[in-house]
Amino acid sequence: MVSLTADMSPLHPDRNLALELVRATEAAAIRSVPFIGRGAKELADGAAVDAMRAFLTTVNFDGVIVIGEGEKDNAPMLYNGEHVGTGRGPQCDIAVDPIDGTTLTAEGRNNALSVLAVADRGAMLDASSVFYMDKIVTGPAGVGVVDIRLPVGENIRRLAKALDKPIDELVVSVLNRPRHAQLIDDIRAAGAGTRLMSDGDVAGGINAARYNARTDMCIGIGGSPEGVATTCAIKALGGHIQGRLWARDDEEKQKGIDAGLRLDDYVYEADELVKGTNTIFVATGVTNGELVSGVRRSGPDYIITESVVLRGASGTLRRITSEHLASKWL
Ligand code: FBP
Repeated sequence: MVSLTADMSPLHPDRNLALELVRATEAAAIRSVPFIGRGAKELADGAAVDAMRAFLTTVNFDGVIVIGEGEKDNAPMLYNGEHVGTGRGPQCDIAVDPIDGTTLTAEGRNNALSVLAVADRGAMLDASSVFYMDKIVTGPAGVGVVDIRLPVGENIRRLAKALDKPIDELVVSVLNRPRHAQLIDDIRAAGAGTRLMSDGDVAGGINAARYNARTDMCIGIGGSPEGVATTCAIKALGGHIQGRLWARDDEEKQKGIDAGLRLDDYVYEADELVKGTNTIFVATGVTNGELVSGVRRSGPDYIITESVVLRGASGTLRRITSEHLASKWL
């Protein structure tokens, strides 16, 4: 049964905060538009970071960036450890990805998103010292059914059975990278189809877990920060996510161990990636995608954005279409 009082406490991120946060991803998406297809991913990211931070400073919460743009010295804004918000209201951990898909944006391709995720203070795993994480994501049917430790063919068979679908109707999304050549072969050998993503495994994970999804599973090695942000969304979708940190070399492995992370094939369950269900995940489309449409102009006067808001406490995915007066953004 849904608890109607689950979010009454001002100590936790509540539904009003969710709406406040959308303003920040909308702003980041709108400000990245001039850079779509211009081949300059750093400029696109910079514009999105500036816009997101400007809006975050006005939000009534006491936020600490756990997953940001990197260390303070290299990232003047939205760096790990930075406090954002007015300092009033709930104490939160924040993961920001002002553009997930900077290359997609720079190349004018689909599926770039602006992303913000929030959870209770201390809830998010700070996995930033190890760049990559091996992940598996499914919708609710995969809970207690798939496991990242199993061969992918076995996970496909189990999920097909749980979904009551023929295996050849199952579609698995994977980042199209040389490191996934064997994984892609194994998925196809098991009889499932693949959806190869050029970038953007946050959208890939959510698309595999949500209602009426056209993909059934998202699997493979992508960014660790993206894994933690995706977990905030998966909590609202009742889906399955597990992650395993994937160090590129011994030096990175040691960095991870020094930061208190567990490597050597240790499997982080959803609740270790992000504790509890007081999560909020918001994303606004930069370019068009299966999850949300990108920013578009409607005549000379309006800018239209499409966003999703996912709340772990209530288990909802809401869509917000906003019509912005273009003159306010000049
Ligand atoms: P950025 O836009 O931050 O570069 O991330 C894009 C992305 O595709 C993520 O969605 C994914 O987790 C990661 O990069 C994969 O990293 P790599 O491109 O090094 O394989």
